[in-house]
Amino acid sequence: MYQVALLGIGTVGSSIYELLQKEISDEFNVKHVLIRSREKHKNFEKQELLTTDFKDIEQDQDIDIVIEVIGGIHPAREYIEDSLRKKRHVVTANKELLSEYGEELIQLAQEMGVSLLFEASVGGAIPVIDPMMNELLVNDISKISGIMNGTTNFILSKMKNSNLEFEEALKLAQELGYAEQNPDADILGYDAARKLAILSSLAYHQTIKMQDMKVEGITKVSISDIEWADKMGYEIKMVAVSSKENGCISATVAPFMIKKENPLSLVVDSYNAIAMDCNNAGSLMFMGRGAGKPTGSAIATNLMDIISSKPSLSSMVNRAPKEEAMPIIEKKYHYYVKVDFQDQEEKQKLEKLSDLGELVDQEESLVMITEEMSCDELQAYIDRIKGIAAVEKVSAIRILDQDTMA
Ligand SMILES: NC(=O)c1ccc[n+]([C@@H]2O[C@H](COP(=O)([O-])OP(=O)(O)OC[C@H]3O[C@@H](n4cnc5c(N)ncnc54)[C@H](OP(=O)(O)O)[C@@H]3O)[C@@H](O)[C@H]2O)c1
Repeated sequence: MYQVALLGIGTVGSSIYELLQKEISDEFNVKHVLIRSREKHKNFEKQELLTTDFKDIEQDQDIDIVIEVIGGIHPAREYIEDSLRKKRHVVTANKELLSEYGEELIQLAQEMGVSLLFEASVGGAIPVIDPMMNELLVNDISKISGIMNGTTNFILSKMKNSNLEFEEALKLAQELGYAEQNPDADILGYDAARKLAILSSLAYHQTIKMQDMKVEGITKVSISDIEWADKMGYEIKMVAVSSKENGCISATVAPFMIKKENPLSLVVDSYNAIAMDCNNAGSLMFMGRGAGKPTGSAIATNLMDIISSKPSLSSMVNRAPKEEAMPIIEKKYHYYVKVDFQDQEEKQKLEKLSDLGELVDQEESLVMITEEMSCDELQAYIDRIKGIAAVEKVSAIRILDQDTMA
């Protein structure tokens, strides 16, 4: 019987606690549950397990496995490091911590000869890290693209299907519990960027952090953009995409127009999907519930991995070829650009220009598809438009130029 300490018993903690009491109770015994305040947990069935002091866990010689589901950088980082140094296996769902300190923590686990497993940190219940590190071991992954944040996918789906503007859809998501009261990490793209950082670092054998990416949220997407996308044969989704091309890596999280032929365009509401291009296995896509109660399943799988003879993720990472670090560059995309004018005279000033891109419509607004450009080039393009005509609003959204999965 393995002795387990559970750090945190919130959304994910309570779902894994339940599994530890039922489905996997023969193998594991929960010895401690770390919380912040007892008051909140006075109805918890086994009060004797609760502690607000990590020392109770640190000093208990019996503990074999620590499950960290408190979230954030501090004190989660210190608790995980302490546990690894005591040669305890650690399972965590903490994408924020792993995207920033994953390399150091994996190295520490390797030095200590224990496992550090984190399937739940990306895509909730969807198995994606384990397939990458095991089943796809003899593959070179050249591209990852996906819908990695259920909150923004829910908001964009509601905007389209219920004709709601962003603020209204966000309010609805908060009322239904799909969005936090402070939704910034989701709507500004940070949550998806952290997950993309974890997957890209594993896929390309090099640390990729959020700071290396172009990250843009969905706050500027309007119903009008969604309607335009629909007319042109696209869906707007917040996509996290990274690739390894010509010896360079690029990574972007932003609202994208995706062709309706691309299976990612069919992923709606709070679902997540992650697609990969592999040299031997071809294109693969993993889809499912990316958050909430099902996340406990991913943690339970990691617990079973620890007690089975399956090689640990730490030893897999060790096997990765040590290559020269590849430069991380910004990938250029075609943009959909829609310009709204104060009056028709102003619009005519721009219509005379022939080098703005492919003109899609010029009834009320000007809608164009630009050539491939970087963020700076797009800004210069918009500045040029604003210098020529008095515009009311300019919207710009990247186009994901692919109809395959990844
Ligand atoms: N929610 C999801 O769907 C989901 C999915 C995948 C991954 N994750 C990740 O899983 C982790 C946990 O998320 P969650 O949604 O379950 O969080 P949550 O509902 O807010 O629960 C956090 C738990 O940790 C405890 N805690 C927080 N800080 C603590 C501290 N300093 N000392 C002791 N206990 C502390 C809290 O104690 P109290 O109860 O006393 O406040 C609570 O029980 C995060 O890293 C998150 O990114 C979440």
